[in-house]
Amino acid sequence: MAATGTTSRTLPWDWYTDPAVLRLEQERIFRRFWQYAGLLTDVAQPGSFAATRAGDVPVVLVRDEGGTLRAFLNVCRHRGSLVCEGSGMRKTLQCPYHAWTYALDGQLVNAPRLEREEALADTGELGLVQLRLETWGPFAFVNPDPEAAPLSDFLGDIPERLAASGVDVDALRFLERAESECGANWKICAENYLECYHCPTAHPGFSAVVDVSPDGYLLEAEGWRMSQVGPVRPEPRGPYRPAGEVERGQFHFLFPNTVVNVMPGRQNLSIGPIVPRDPERTYRFLDYFVGEDVDDDWLRGFLELDEQVGAEDRALVESVQRGIGSGALESGVLLPESEQLIARFQTLVLEALGE
Ligand code: FES
Ligand SMILES: [Fe+2]
Repeated sequence: MAATGTTSRTLPWDWYTDPAVLRLEQERIFRRFWQYAGLLTDVAQPGSFAATRAGDVPVVLVRDEGGTLRAFLNVCRHRGSLVCEGSGMRKTLQCPYHAWTYALDGQLVNAPRLEREEALADTGELGLVQLRLETWGPFAFVNPDPEAAPLSDFLGDIPERLAASGVDVDALRFLERAESECGANWKICAENYLECYHCPTAHPGFSAVVDVSPDGYLLEAEGWRMSQVGPVRPEPRGPYRPAGEVERGQFHFLFPNTVVNVMPGRQNLSIGPIVPRDPERTYRFLDYFVGEDVDDDWLRGFLELDEQVGAEDRALVESVQRGIGSGALESGVLLPESEQLIARFQTLVLEALGE
Protein backbone atom coordinates (compact mmCIF):
# COMPACT_ATOMS: atom_id res chain seq x y z
CA MET A 1 0.00 0.00 0.00
CA ALA A 2 1.89 3.08 -1.20
CA ALA A 3 0.65 6.63 -1.73
CA THR A 4 1.26 8.36 -5.01
CA GLY A 5 2.44 11.51 -3.19
CA THR A 6 1.14 13.75 -5.96
CA THR A 7 -2.31 15.20 -6.54
CA SER A 8 -2.21 14.79 -10.31
CA ARG A 9 -2.49 11.01 -9.91
CA THR A 10 -5.45 9.44 -8.18
CA LEU A 11 -5.09 7.33 -5.06
CA PRO A 12 -3.83 3.82 -5.84
CA TRP A 13 -6.75 1.89 -7.24
CA ASP A 14 -6.22 -1.12 -5.00
CA TRP A 15 -7.33 1.18 -2.14
CA TYR A 16 -10.83 0.87 -3.58
CA THR A 17 -11.02 -2.91 -3.17
CA ASP A 18 -8.66 -3.75 -0.30
CA PRO A 19 -10.41 -4.74 2.97
CA ALA A 20 -7.29 -3.68 4.92
CA VAL A 21 -7.63 -0.13 3.57
CA LEU A 22 -11.29 0.02 4.56
CA ARG A 23 -10.42 -1.20 8.07
CA LEU A 24 -7.89 1.62 8.35
CA GLU A 25 -10.43 4.14 7.02
CA GLN A 26 -13.01 2.98 9.57
CA GLU A 27 -10.50 3.42 12.37
CA ARG A 28 -8.85 6.66 11.30
CA ILE A 29 -11.62 8.42 9.39
CA PHE A 30 -15.08 7.20 10.38
CA ARG A 31 -14.21 6.99 14.09
CA ARG A 32 -12.70 10.47 14.17
CA PHE A 33 -14.90 12.82 12.15
CA TRP A 34 -18.36 14.32 12.44
CA GLN A 35 -21.02 12.54 10.43
CA TYR A 36 -24.67 13.30 9.76
CA ALA A 37 -26.73 10.95 11.94
CA GLY A 38 -30.34 11.99 11.38
CA LEU A 39 -33.14 14.36 12.19
CA LEU A 40 -33.85 15.99 15.50
CA THR A 41 -37.58 15.56 14.82
CA ASP A 42 -37.08 11.77 15.07
CA VAL A 43 -36.01 12.21 18.68
CA ALA A 44 -38.15 15.19 19.65
CA GLN A 45 -40.28 13.56 22.39
CA PRO A 46 -38.94 12.48 25.79
CA GLY A 47 -38.40 8.72 25.53
CA SER A 48 -37.81 8.70 21.78
CA PHE A 49 -34.85 6.93 20.22
CA ALA A 50 -33.42 6.41 16.73
CA ALA A 51 -30.71 3.92 15.75
CA THR A 52 -28.14 5.16 13.25
CA ARG A 53 -24.44 4.74 12.41
CA ALA A 54 -21.17 6.60 12.11
CA GLY A 55 -19.30 4.54 9.52
CA ASP A 56 -19.41 1.04 10.99
CA VAL A 57 -20.04 2.31 14.52
CA PRO A 58 -23.62 1.55 15.65
CA VAL A 59 -25.14 4.61 17.30
CA VAL A 60 -28.45 5.34 19.01
CA LEU A 61 -29.82 8.82 19.59
CA VAL A 62 -31.96 9.07 22.73
CA ARG A 63 -34.00 11.86 24.33
CA ASP A 64 -34.42 11.26 28.08
CA GLU A 65 -37.42 12.21 30.26
CA GLY A 66 -35.78 15.49 31.16
CA GLY A 67 -35.47 16.42 27.48
CA THR A 68 -31.70 15.93 27.17
CA LEU A 69 -30.60 14.47 23.85
CA ARG A 70 -27.64 12.10 23.82
CA ALA A 71 -25.88 9.74 21.44
CA PHE A 72 -24.68 6.34 22.67
CA LEU A 73 -22.66 3.56 21.20
CA ASN A 74 -25.51 1.16 20.39
CA VAL A 75 -23.58 -1.84 21.71
CA CYS A 76 -24.54 -3.67 24.88
CA ARG A 77 -21.81 -3.64 27.53
CA HIS A 78 -22.58 -7.28 28.36
CA ARG A 79 -21.76 -9.32 25.26
CA GLY A 80 -22.18 -6.79 22.53
CA SER A 81 -25.65 -7.13 21.06
CA LEU A 82 -27.13 -4.08 19.40
CA VAL A 83 -29.41 -2.58 22.03
CA CYS A 84 -31.87 -0.73 19.75
CA GLU A 85 -33.05 -1.13 16.18
CA GLY A 86 -35.12 1.31 14.16
CA SER A 87 -36.77 4.13 16.02
CA GLY A 88 -39.65 4.69 18.42
CA MET A 89 -40.47 5.37 22.05
CA ARG A 90 -39.08 3.63 25.12
CA LYS A 91 -39.03 4.03 28.87
CA THR A 92 -35.72 2.18 29.13
CA LEU A 93 -33.19 0.76 26.70
CA GLN A 94 -33.38 -2.98 27.26
CA CYS A 95 -31.04 -5.24 25.39
CA PRO A 96 -32.92 -8.00 23.54
CA TYR A 97 -30.27 -10.64 24.33
CA HIS A 98 -30.20 -11.04 28.17
CA ALA A 99 -32.34 -8.05 29.15
CA TRP A 100 -29.69 -5.80 30.60
CA THR A 101 -31.61 -2.58 31.05
CA TYR A 102 -30.22 0.89 30.64
CA ALA A 103 -31.94 4.12 31.66
CA LEU A 104 -32.41 6.72 28.93
CA ASP A 105 -29.34 8.50 30.32
CA GLY A 106 -27.29 5.38 29.55
CA GLN A 107 -26.83 4.08 33.11
CA LEU A 108 -27.17 0.33 33.60
CA VAL A 109 -30.11 0.08 36.01
CA ASN A 110 -30.94 -3.60 35.98
CA ALA A 111 -29.69 -6.99 34.83
CA PRO A 112 -31.29 -10.38 35.51
CA ARG A 113 -29.51 -12.27 38.36
CA LEU A 114 -27.75 -9.09 39.37
CA GLU A 115 -28.09 -9.97 43.06
CA ARG A 116 -26.60 -13.47 42.59
CA GLU A 117 -23.57 -12.60 40.50
CA GLU A 118 -20.82 -10.82 42.32
CA ALA A 119 -18.97 -9.64 39.23
CA LEU A 120 -21.89 -7.39 38.43
CA ALA A 121 -21.56 -5.43 41.68
CA ASP A 122 -20.26 -2.28 40.02
CA THR A 123 -22.93 -1.54 37.46
CA GLY A 124 -21.94 2.14 37.48
CA GLU A 125 -19.04 1.22 35.20
CA LEU A 126 -21.24 -0.58 32.70
CA GLY A 127 -23.45 2.16 31.27
CA LEU A 128 -23.77 2.69 27.53
CA VAL A 129 -20.79 4.56 26.12
CA GLN A 130 -21.75 8.13 25.33
CA LEU A 131 -20.63 9.63 22.02
CA ARG A 132 -20.25 13.23 20.91
CA LEU A 133 -23.48 14.69 19.57
CA GLU A 134 -23.95 18.19 18.18
CA THR A 135 -26.63 19.80 16.10
CA TRP A 136 -27.01 22.31 13.30
CA GLY A 137 -30.59 23.48 12.79
CA PRO A 138 -32.75 20.31 12.58
CA PHE A 139 -29.74 18.06 11.86
CA ALA A 140 -27.93 15.79 14.34
CA PHE A 141 -24.27 14.90 13.88
CA VAL A 142 -22.25 12.37 15.85
CA ASN A 143 -18.56 11.79 16.30
CA PRO A 144 -17.10 8.68 17.98
CA ASP A 145 -13.93 10.65 18.87
CA PRO A 146 -14.23 12.28 22.30
CA GLU A 147 -11.30 14.58 21.45
CA ALA A 148 -12.74 15.92 18.19
CA ALA A 149 -13.03 19.66 17.57
CA PRO A 150 -16.59 21.03 17.71
CA LEU A 151 -18.97 20.46 14.80
CA SER A 152 -18.98 24.18 14.00
CA ASP A 153 -15.24 24.03 13.13
CA PHE A 154 -15.99 21.29 10.67
CA LEU A 155 -19.10 22.86 9.12
CA GLY A 156 -17.19 26.08 8.45
CA ASP A 157 -19.38 28.68 6.76
CA ILE A 158 -21.93 26.30 5.24
CA PRO A 159 -24.73 27.51 7.56
CA GLU A 160 -23.98 31.13 6.62
CA ARG A 161 -23.77 30.31 2.93
CA LEU A 162 -27.14 28.58 2.98
CA ALA A 163 -28.72 31.43 4.92
CA ALA A 164 -27.25 34.00 2.51
CA SER A 165 -28.62 32.10 -0.45
CA GLY A 166 -32.14 32.18 0.99
CA VAL A 167 -32.35 28.70 2.57
CA ASP A 168 -33.69 28.77 6.13
CA VAL A 169 -32.91 25.29 7.50
CA ASP A 170 -35.18 25.82 10.51
CA ALA A 171 -38.20 26.64 8.34
CA LEU A 172 -37.93 23.59 6.09
CA ARG A 173 -40.45 20.76 6.14
CA PHE A 174 -39.14 17.18 6.20
CA LEU A 175 -40.38 15.31 3.16
CA GLU A 176 -38.85 11.83 3.11
CA ARG A 177 -35.76 9.72 3.54
CA ALA A 178 -34.46 8.01 0.41
CA GLU A 179 -32.14 5.04 1.00
CA SER A 180 -29.95 3.41 -1.61
CA GLU A 181 -27.06 1.01 -2.04
CA CYS A 182 -24.57 0.75 -4.84
CA GLY A 183 -21.76 -1.56 -5.83
CA ALA A 184 -18.86 0.85 -5.45
CA ASN A 185 -16.29 1.84 -2.86
CA TRP A 186 -17.40 4.81 -0.71
CA LYS A 187 -14.51 6.95 -2.08
CA ILE A 188 -15.74 6.44 -5.65
CA CYS A 189 -19.15 7.77 -4.55
CA ALA A 190 -17.54 10.74 -2.78
CA GLU A 191 -15.28 11.52 -5.74
CA ASN A 192 -18.16 11.29 -8.17
CA TYR A 193 -20.00 13.82 -6.01
CA LEU A 194 -17.00 16.16 -5.96
CA GLU A 195 -16.80 16.97 -9.65
CA CYS A 196 -19.28 18.09 -12.30
CA TYR A 197 -16.84 17.40 -15.13
CA HIS A 198 -19.05 14.40 -15.85
CA CYS A 199 -22.27 16.44 -15.84
CA PRO A 200 -22.43 17.47 -19.54
CA THR A 201 -21.87 13.85 -20.62
CA ALA A 202 -23.72 11.91 -17.96
CA HIS A 203 -26.44 14.23 -16.60
CA PRO A 204 -28.16 15.85 -19.60
CA GLY A 205 -31.28 16.66 -17.55
CA PHE A 206 -29.35 18.37 -14.75
CA SER A 207 -27.11 20.17 -17.24
CA ALA A 208 -30.19 21.56 -19.02
CA VAL A 209 -31.09 23.36 -15.76
CA VAL A 210 -27.77 24.25 -14.11
CA ASP A 211 -24.86 25.95 -15.87
CA VAL A 212 -22.17 23.27 -15.54
CA SER A 213 -19.64 25.03 -17.79
CA PRO A 214 -16.15 25.51 -16.28
CA ASP A 215 -16.65 29.28 -16.11
CA GLY A 216 -20.14 29.18 -14.63
CA TYR A 217 -19.84 26.35 -12.13
CA LEU A 218 -17.57 27.20 -9.19
CA LEU A 219 -15.51 24.80 -7.12
CA GLU A 220 -14.14 25.84 -3.78
CA ALA A 221 -12.64 24.17 -0.72
CA GLU A 222 -11.85 25.37 2.76
CA GLY A 223 -11.02 23.29 5.82
CA TRP A 224 -13.15 20.17 5.75
CA ARG A 225 -15.73 21.68 3.38
CA MET A 226 -15.70 21.21 -0.40
CA SER A 227 -18.35 23.22 -2.25
CA GLN A 228 -19.77 23.47 -5.74
CA VAL A 229 -22.02 26.34 -6.76
CA GLY A 230 -23.89 26.40 -10.06
CA PRO A 231 -26.17 29.13 -11.42
CA VAL A 232 -29.36 28.44 -13.38
CA ARG A 233 -29.04 28.43 -17.15
CA PRO A 234 -30.56 31.49 -18.83
CA GLU A 235 -33.09 29.24 -20.54
CA PRO A 236 -33.51 26.09 -18.45
CA ARG A 237 -35.19 23.10 -20.10
CA GLY A 238 -36.95 20.02 -18.78
CA PRO A 239 -39.65 19.16 -16.24
CA TYR A 240 -37.97 20.93 -13.32
CA ARG A 241 -38.77 24.61 -12.73
CA PRO A 242 -35.69 26.25 -11.20
CA ALA A 243 -37.27 29.67 -10.65
CA GLY A 244 -37.64 30.73 -7.03
CA GLU A 245 -35.99 32.36 -4.05
CA VAL A 246 -32.87 30.16 -4.24
CA GLU A 247 -30.87 31.44 -7.17
CA ARG A 248 -28.01 28.98 -7.38
CA GLY A 249 -27.50 25.29 -6.81
CA GLN A 250 -25.13 24.47 -3.95
CA PHE A 251 -23.56 21.11 -3.34
CA HIS A 252 -21.47 20.90 -0.19
CA PHE A 253 -19.39 17.96 0.92
CA LEU A 254 -18.27 17.74 4.54
CA PHE A 255 -15.30 15.46 4.95
CA PRO A 256 -15.41 12.56 5.25
CA ASN A 257 -18.89 11.65 4.00
CA THR A 258 -21.76 14.11 4.48
CA VAL A 259 -23.38 15.83 1.50
CA VAL A 260 -25.68 18.86 1.62
CA ASN A 261 -27.54 19.62 -1.60
CA VAL A 262 -29.62 22.64 -2.54
CA MET A 263 -31.13 22.97 -6.00
CA PRO A 264 -31.87 26.37 -7.44
CA GLY A 265 -35.58 27.21 -7.24
CA ARG A 266 -37.92 26.93 -4.29
CA GLN A 267 -36.67 26.27 -0.77
CA ASN A 268 -35.16 22.80 -0.67
CA LEU A 269 -32.34 20.81 0.84
CA SER A 270 -31.18 17.23 1.05
CA ILE A 271 -28.57 15.92 3.46
CA GLY A 272 -27.08 12.52 4.13
CA PRO A 273 -24.00 10.34 4.58
CA ILE A 274 -22.02 8.05 2.26
CA VAL A 275 -21.43 4.93 4.36
CA PRO A 276 -19.09 2.07 3.43
CA ARG A 277 -20.73 -1.36 3.77
CA ASP A 278 -17.76 -3.31 2.52
CA PRO A 279 -14.87 -2.38 0.21
CA GLU A 280 -17.03 -2.53 -2.91
CA ARG A 281 -20.45 -1.63 -1.49
CA THR A 282 -21.83 1.66 -0.21
CA TYR A 283 -25.03 2.58 1.60
CA ARG A 284 -26.49 6.06 1.41
CA PHE A 285 -29.50 7.89 2.64
CA LEU A 286 -30.72 11.37 1.89
CA ASP A 287 -33.17 13.30 4.04
CA TYR A 288 -35.20 15.62 1.80
CA PHE A 289 -36.66 18.92 2.93
CA VAL A 290 -38.68 21.55 1.12
CA GLY A 291 -40.26 24.88 2.00
CA GLU A 292 -43.72 24.84 3.58
CA ASP A 293 -45.32 26.50 0.56
CA VAL A 294 -44.00 24.52 -2.41
CA ASP A 295 -46.66 23.27 -4.80
CA ASP A 296 -47.09 19.66 -5.97
CA ASP A 297 -46.13 20.45 -9.52
CA TRP A 298 -42.80 21.93 -8.51
CA LEU A 299 -42.19 19.05 -6.13
CA ARG A 300 -42.86 16.45 -8.81
CA GLY A 301 -40.33 18.08 -11.14
CA PHE A 302 -37.79 18.39 -8.32
CA LEU A 303 -38.03 14.73 -7.30
CA GLU A 304 -38.10 13.50 -10.89
CA LEU A 305 -34.86 15.30 -11.75
CA ASP A 306 -33.24 14.20 -8.50
CA GLU A 307 -34.14 10.57 -9.08
CA GLN A 308 -32.82 10.73 -12.63
CA VAL A 309 -29.48 12.17 -11.50
CA GLY A 310 -29.25 9.58 -8.71
CA ALA A 311 -29.81 6.69 -11.12
CA GLU A 312 -27.25 8.09 -13.56
CA ASP A 313 -24.67 8.48 -10.79
CA ARG A 314 -25.27 4.94 -9.53
CA ALA A 315 -24.51 3.52 -12.98
CA LEU A 316 -21.37 5.69 -13.23
CA VAL A 317 -19.84 4.68 -9.90
CA GLU A 318 -20.59 0.99 -10.43
CA SER A 319 -18.87 1.19 -13.80
CA VAL A 320 -15.83 2.83 -12.17
CA GLN A 321 -15.73 0.07 -9.55
CA ARG A 322 -15.67 -2.57 -12.30
CA GLY A 323 -12.86 -0.75 -14.10
CA ILE A 324 -10.78 0.01 -11.02
CA GLY A 325 -11.53 -3.36 -9.46
CA SER A 326 -10.21 -5.23 -12.49
CA GLY A 327 -6.72 -4.51 -11.19
CA ALA A 328 -5.50 -3.95 -14.74
CA LEU A 329 -4.18 -0.46 -13.97
CA GLU A 330 -2.61 0.97 -10.83
CA SER A 331 -4.09 4.48 -10.78
CA GLY A 332 -5.59 7.27 -12.89
CA VAL A 333 -5.13 11.03 -13.31
CA LEU A 334 -6.98 14.08 -12.02
CA LEU A 335 -7.64 17.33 -13.87
CA PRO A 336 -5.98 20.08 -11.81
CA GLU A 337 -8.89 22.54 -12.16
CA SER A 338 -12.05 20.60 -12.78
CA GLU A 339 -11.19 17.85 -10.31
CA GLN A 340 -9.50 19.97 -7.65
CA LEU A 341 -12.06 18.94 -5.02
CA ILE A 342 -11.18 15.28 -5.57
CA ALA A 343 -7.52 16.15 -5.08
CA ARG A 344 -8.48 17.92 -1.86
CA PHE A 345 -10.54 14.93 -0.71
CA GLN A 346 -7.70 12.52 -1.48
CA THR A 347 -5.24 14.73 0.41
CA LEU A 348 -7.54 14.67 3.45
CA VAL A 349 -7.88 10.89 3.17
CA LEU A 350 -4.10 10.52 3.02
CA GLU A 351 -3.59 12.85 5.98
CA ALA A 352 -6.23 11.07 8.05
CA LEU A 353 -4.72 7.67 7.28
CA GLY A 354 -1.31 9.00 8.22
CA GLU A 355 0.24 8.01 4.93
S1 FES B 1 -25.63 -8.83 25.19
FE1 FES B 1 -26.98 -7.38 25.96
S2 FES B 1 -27.81 -8.29 27.69
FE2 FES B 1 -26.40 -9.72 26.99
FE1 LIG C 1 -23.16 12.95 -10.98
